[in-house]
Amino acid sequence: MKNNPGSGQVGINIAKSDDKAVKYVFIETFGCQMNVGDSERMVSLLADSDFIETEDPKKADLIILNTCSVRDKAEQKVYSSAGRYRELKTEKPELILGISGCVAQQGGEGLLKRMPYVDMVVGTHNVHKISAIVSQIRGGGKRRSTTEMYDGFSPDEYALNADSYKNKIKFFVSIMRGCNNFCTYCIVPYVRGREVSRSLADIEKEVNALAGAGTKEITLIGQNVNSYVGEVSFPGLIKRICLIGGIERVRFVTSHPKDISEELIYLYGEEEKLVKSLHLPLQSGSDKVLGRMGRGYTSGSYMAKINLLKKLYPDMAITTDIIVAFPGEDESDFAATMNIVKEVEFDGIFSFKYSVRPGTKAEEFTADHIEPDIAKKRLSTLQELQKEIGKRKSRALVGTDQMVLVEGRSKADASELTGRTPCNRVVNFSTKNIVAGDIASISIVGAYANSLRGECL
Ligand code: 5AD
Ligand code: SF4
Repeated sequence: MKNNPGSGQVGINIAKSDDKAVKYVFIETFGCQMNVGDSERMVSLLADSDFIETEDPKKADLIILNTCSVRDKAEQKVYSSAGRYRELKTEKPELILGISGCVAQQGGEGLLKRMPYVDMVVGTHNVHKISAIVSQIRGGGKRRSTTEMYDGFSPDEYALNADSYKNKIKFFVSIMRGCNNFCTYCIVPYVRGREVSRSLADIEKEVNALAGAGTKEITLIGQNVNSYVGEVSFPGLIKRICLIGGIERVRFVTSHPKDISEELIYLYGEEEKLVKSLHLPLQSGSDKVLGRMGRGYTSGSYMAKINLLKKLYPDMAITTDIIVAFPGEDESDFAATMNIVKEVEFDGIFSFKYSVRPGTKAEEFTADHIEPDIAKKRLSTLQELQKEIGKRKSRALVGTDQMVLVEGRSKADASELTGRTPCNRVVNFSTKNIVAGDIASISIVGAYANSLRGECL
């Protein structure tokens, strides 16, 4: 996955006829694509109990912090956000405050004790129970923590409210959950459990419903989508999704470099709907560090796959994740990472300083910890390099024509439309003849730090 370090609203539009019955839910989402998908699911399920999503926490009757525990800063953010919402509760005592996601899974009852103003803690395998839990609390039930973990999916786990799909141009569809890889630094296998895949029929049913409601772009999500095991392989699943009428673009996230197959690489050339964009987390360019991370590939095997992709699809957008200052990373290891970044010229990098996660294998590597000021310096050196590369790559797009999937009005300027290229770059432009959901040919006339400016052809 693509990692989503910020937070945001999910943006599902639901029309309601009886305003008196309407209640508002505000969800703040931290972390990766799995959390964004879970937030979408919660909004959809809560619509059944007459909740409408709001972007204004002050208006909310229910606030949910959908949390991430991948790095320690993300956890701190949860405590400070929850503290802020606590103040809203003094003005509106009936406001329900909930914590979901990975911090919820890990903290359970402990979070209820630590934050007495929190009403519910909902673990990663219990998202589908959200409406029942909220109803119980609204009915005067006790504060509660629901963090049981299950080996498989329960039949109603992905039963969504089809009405809530309306007007969603793009949607995340979960194809699996959990991870079996146990990279030595990572908390995910502990908070999301082991890998389990959804059935092909269930996924197709959801995508068909989305297509019927006007969705144009599907992102198949999982912590490790290449490990999908259903009636078909992962490439087989993509082929089936591409057959669904109305769906114009298919993406997926996240892929593990050790598992990405040649079959999948060649599929990009066969399926027009599969956009030429790939998130492939490198983590480090040093074989010593990759070994200690337990990643199961070398820089050489990673580069062989990248080189094949670039040879076959010169325009492909490739993004990655990198951790700097993993225990034992010396200057030559860091230089190896920098060299790969220079060689690949990624379209985007999500970069992080290593942070110790309790209970992981790397927690034992204390003797090799990197000094914080060195870690900080390495991160900024890497980010400076990527900034240069990003600028260069954006400028190279000026003068090209791009097929842009229009997502709606630009938040910064409502007179403009905003959309994305197949490579997921944001393009803002003005026109009168195009609406959300259209795919339009747009001429790129300018490049900024985070977006492109276009003109409608
Ligand atoms: N410290 C820093 N970064 C981490 N990530 C995962 N665990 C850690 C950690 N302990 C990063 C990885 C992963 C992304 C989602 O978060 O780069 O790909
Ligand atoms: Fe974490 Fe590794 Fe699994 Fe990704 S593949 S979720 S980094 S354990």
